[in-house]
Amino acid sequence: MPIQQKNTTPQTQTAPEPPSPLEKVKGQPQLLRGMKDILPADQPYWDAIRTVVEDNAHSAGFSRIETPILEAANLFTRTVGQETDIVEKEMYVFVDKSGDKIALRPENTAPVARAFLEHGLISWPQPVRLYYLGPFFRHDRPQAGRYRQFWQFGFEVLGDAHPVVDAQLVYLAVSIYKALTVPVTAHINSLGDSVCRPNYMKILTEYFRTRRNSLCEDCKRRLQKNPLRILDCKEPDCHTVSQDVPQIVDHLCEQCRDHFVRVLEYLGELEVPYTLNPRIVRGLDYYTRTVWQIMDEGVEDHYGQTDLGGGGRYDDLLQQLGNRPVPAVGFAGGVERLMMRMRERQYVPAPIRHPDIFLGQLGEAARKKSLKLYDTLRTLGIRAAESFSKDSLKGQLETANRLGVKYALIIGQKELMDDTILIRDMESGIQEVVDFKKVVPEIQKRLAKTNGAVPPEKRVAV
Ligand code: HAM
Repeated sequence: MPIQQKNTTPQTQTAPEPPSPLEKVKGQPQLLRGMKDILPADQPYWDAIRTVVEDNAHSAGFSRIETPILEAANLFTRTVGQETDIVEKEMYVFVDKSGDKIALRPENTAPVARAFLEHGLISWPQPVRLYYLGPFFRHDRPQAGRYRQFWQFGFEVLGDAHPVVDAQLVYLAVSIYKALTVPVTAHINSLGDSVCRPNYMKILTEYFRTRRNSLCEDCKRRLQKNPLRILDCKEPDCHTVSQDVPQIVDHLCEQCRDHFVRVLEYLGELEVPYTLNPRIVRGLDYYTRTVWQIMDEGVEDHYGQTDLGGGGRYDDLLQQLGNRPVPAVGFAGGVERLMMRMRERQYVPAPIRHPDIFLGQLGEAARKKSLKLYDTLRTLGIRAAESFSKDSLKGQLETANRLGVKYALIIGQKELMDDTILIRDMESGIQEVVDFKKVVPEIQKRLAKTNGAVPPEKRVAV
């Protein structure tokens, strides 16, 4: 039976004041513009996003794929499109030591398509459902929610032309945001295909030609090469000019119209909140038929960086890359933008699992004994925290308090001689002496009765 004892923590010296963490030293390296550190305070949100994405992906039959960060630059030039902002202005490109032109991937649909063809996934039972979560790079003008390195979670379904798949992907995307307490609407449009789009392009060219003087220099050039790109130009004048543009949905061929109507019907069945938005053309050239963007319900404008995610069908992309017709559709969401919305909506992430106990020690021999106990506890699945490099017991116990552990196990000089250990209840401050040989079963018994960390208001000062 452990002996009750008053709070008699062994005495130690106080630690010196640390320098202010925000003090900047001249010449100190700094974060590159447009980059973002993902700090410990961000991690619970990341964990929540990762968990929801993985759960949804696995339950919908998606397997994970990760492609390299570096790809041949022409993979994106050929697919995302030479005339797009992403390729023309934002892609990080360099020539490597072998003289090859390399890009830091700005997106993942083209790399996934490349991998699908390269590894013979075309011979798997179709469709092949793949998902990913990773960093991407665009040398964009940085601002809130727009970074030069950002993370995306994404889903690609390759080898299925049925409109129900488009609807299921929109549904999957909306479900993820809903699970993370961000209510969204899918803004949806159809871009037609190689049969009907050329005709629409002519109509669009005619429309913009009569308004050419109001367009920015880039868009004057786009007018020759790909007038659709004018619709997602970020210049305010071009934005105004494209307000009254003829709508593509009025110019779809019969097959594309039928596909689109069926997607909308399925969305209706699935009760997905959506709105038809003829201005959604997406900033990438590979899309055919259905395209959509996920917008926060609280944010009106889809223009700029307010979209949380986007996707669409790309039935011609694999043909372009590998000369094999493979219809496909996908979606990707931005992690940082989602995290911003979760914070704004006061999303409460699940608490991080704290360590169960803390090991405190005084003196070198006690440190060694404590180190051995640390190994035993961790092998048994008990989460033990420690500050083995510290000598001051007061400092160690302050760390224990900060971590919110329920118990600290302390070995001082006396305990070392008696082959005992102190179990300190961090909530009450009461310490008990226990035979060292019995400490493991004793602590297991106690931990079985506690429910998690000690809340800050209940931690007693050390
Ligand atoms: P995207 O619309 O270019 O599509 O990007 C998807 C999402 O990534 C955006 O909605 C946004 O949340 C996030 N994002 C993009 N750029 C940035 C940035 N500079 N900073 C922060 N977040 C950003 C694609 O990338 C397509 N590959 C999606 C897709 C998959 N289509 C078919 N399958």
